[in-house]
Amino acid sequence: MGEFSPDYRVIVLFSGNGSNLQALIDNAGEYVIPCVFTDNPWARGRMRASEAGIPVYNHVCKPGITNEEYFNAFARAVEYFTPNLVVLAGFMRVVTKDFLDRLNGQVVNIHPSLLPKYKGLDTHRRVLEAGEKEHGVTIHWVTEELDGGPIIAQERFPIEKDDTEETLEEKVHKIEHVLYPSVVNSLARGDNIGHDINS
Ligand code: GRF
Repeated sequence: MGEFSPDYRVIVLFSGNGSNLQALIDNAGEYVIPCVFTDNPWARGRMRASEAGIPVYNHVCKPGITNEEYFNAFARAVEYFTPNLVVLAGFMRVVTKDFLDRLNGQVVNIHPSLLPKYKGLDTHRRVLEAGEKEHGVTIHWVTEELDGGPIIAQERFPIEKDDTEETLEEKVHKIEHVLYPSVVNSLARGDNIGHDINS
């Protein structure tokens, strides 16, 4: 008898450190990760996937290639592995409408703020500068609008007086590493969580 192998296929896209990728690898109960993709051949996440025996594909944007062309080729490469879900984990590019259409809109992202507040970069610095009382993490379906798709899950925490960008980043990561695998496992089980982009 072979081991039970879930057939919900999750492909992760990342650009850098890959601590969320690591959490997704370590907590893959209801899904498998057949391969991962990066746009950055120097990303630390590459090593994390390789150490877990997961094939890593580079999809680098070469000079002279438009974003549309880059993502059309990317969609074809990802599609080849027949994912049920594409998971963006610190992937630093804005995907195109064609990319989302080809993957049937089954693309999720994690963002380090309480969306719809603080879309984009430098969220920890911006919440401190604005004197916010709380901060958090959002997981959402990806649409053409940057950090603007329907929210699946959100977790918040209070900002303390002595918090800095670094401590906020640590607190955010701690939440992300539990919340992201938990949401992906739930989607794999078909749980009715959040709001499905296709419904
Ligand atoms: C995370 O904080 C995530 O919310 C944001 O980028 C960061 C990626 O961190 N989208 P890592 O590469 O997973 O360590």
